[in-house]
Amino acid sequence: MIVVRRTTALGVCLLLFATSDLSSQISAGADRAAAAERPAAHARKAQAETSLHVNGARLRETLEKLSEFGRPEGGTFGDGVTRLGFSEEDLAAREYVMGLMRAAGLEVRVDPAGNIFGRRAGTAGLPVILFGSHIDSVPNGGNFDGDVGSMGAIEVIRAMNQHGVRTRHPLEVVIWTNEEGHHFGKGLFGSSAAAGLLPEGVLERRDEQGLSIADWLRRYGQDPAKFAEAKLPEGYLAAYLELHIEQGGILDREKIPIGVVEGIVGINWYTCHARGFANHAGTTPMDQRRDALAAAAKAVLAVREEVRREPGRQVGTVGYMKVEPGARNIVPAHVEFPVELRDLDAAKIERIWERILRRFAQIEREENVRIHCDALSSDKPALTDPAIRQAIRQAADSAGLRFLDMPSGAGHDAQQMARLGPIGMIFIPSRGGISHSPHEFSDWNNIALGAEVLYRTILLLDQRFAAK
Ligand code: GLV
Ligand code: MN
Ligand code: MN
Repeated sequence: MIVVRRTTALGVCLLLFATSDLSSQISAGADRAAAAERPAAHARKAQAETSLHVNGARLRETLEKLSEFGRPEGGTFGDGVTRLGFSEEDLAAREYVMGLMRAAGLEVRVDPAGNIFGRRAGTAGLPVILFGSHIDSVPNGGNFDGDVGSMGAIEVIRAMNQHGVRTRHPLEVVIWTNEEGHHFGKGLFGSSAAAGLLPEGVLERRDEQGLSIADWLRRYGQDPAKFAEAKLPEGYLAAYLELHIEQGGILDREKIPIGVVEGIVGINWYTCHARGFANHAGTTPMDQRRDALAAAAKAVLAVREEVRREPGRQVGTVGYMKVEPGARNIVPAHVEFPVELRDLDAAKIERIWERILRRFAQIEREENVRIHCDALSSDKPALTDPAIRQAIRQAADSAGLRFLDMPSGAGHDAQQMARLGPIGMIFIPSRGGISHSPHEFSDWNNIALGAEVLYRTILLLDQRFAAK
């Protein structure tokens, strides 16, 4: 059963009043104080408990409905979803989500990058508190990555309407376009556009059907010529918040419902090509081959070795290989493979990449094959804002929930928003730490708790930032 300590909007107002000197409580130096407070949080959990402001059943219903867009033919919720950014499935899901936004009283607009914003007016002329996530998925993905934060954000608005809550800041729910970046080698697409961070020429990148991003933007009702206008103006953001599943196994293992994200990893993407020579597999002697696949295989292991060569949490992945001509009896002539590197330290990513390139040069000599790599994208790591972290802890604590500070190994649109203003992220547990898989699952109660913490954090920030 879901229980917290206060029920009504009035309850939250009282809570805010009781802790009205938030600017001193939520301060940059408060992280240490929060760490010291943590054991006390556990003790307080036993105090008076009541129900949530958000409606978990209503939130679940919208997540289940959303899961139908891109569900495998004849499948069920547990079979996951393929709803790639810039696809027909995504387009249909966006219509559903915009309908939910309008029904919640939000004023909906779509920017030239396809990002969907739903606005709820504030009572004062202040910058926006923006919160949301993405509804696109990876191929054969799950129904929680991005969806929880998107549907959770809309549920927060519905709950505020229901409880008659007004905020001083305008609130905007955002659904970012193409977070996963599968087709076009550019993840965090919409948030990058909003932060003015997209690489030159990206609109001309094409998917497997030969359609460019510009073509897709037109299909999404946008004019690519106006693309630069997607950049949010200076001073637009009071704060950006994102609720998301952890996608790792820490919270689930520790049985802690709320993660307070400290920082988000940087992600570099490269596409590499190994080029050898196609020849007869029966007649070409082993010492005379220019086998692109053998070279690529060595390259995969070199990536792993160089990533592991220094201590830390950095990761590196080669996620696929496309082999040509791709026949049993032909020595492979060409292999395309990506390299992805992630860490909280951008300099470390660069250092590892330089070592990998030196290893590739060595493999070229050993295998008599050319290896060439293009840098596709580089999304910088970002730290969350200490004051927002503290507000999230305070929100969790007020709901009687345990929380844990932790880094994010997954990329998030929040990291692009960090260029425009202070950001914070709320994690909830992922069962077994599984994500980017149909087996991805988060407990429905935990989803409701995450949305509740988002609700309370927004109200705390509304007080905190207005008091500045
Ligand atoms: C985004 O989902 C990522 O790949 O981390
Ligand atoms: Mn993802
Ligand atoms: Mn995500």
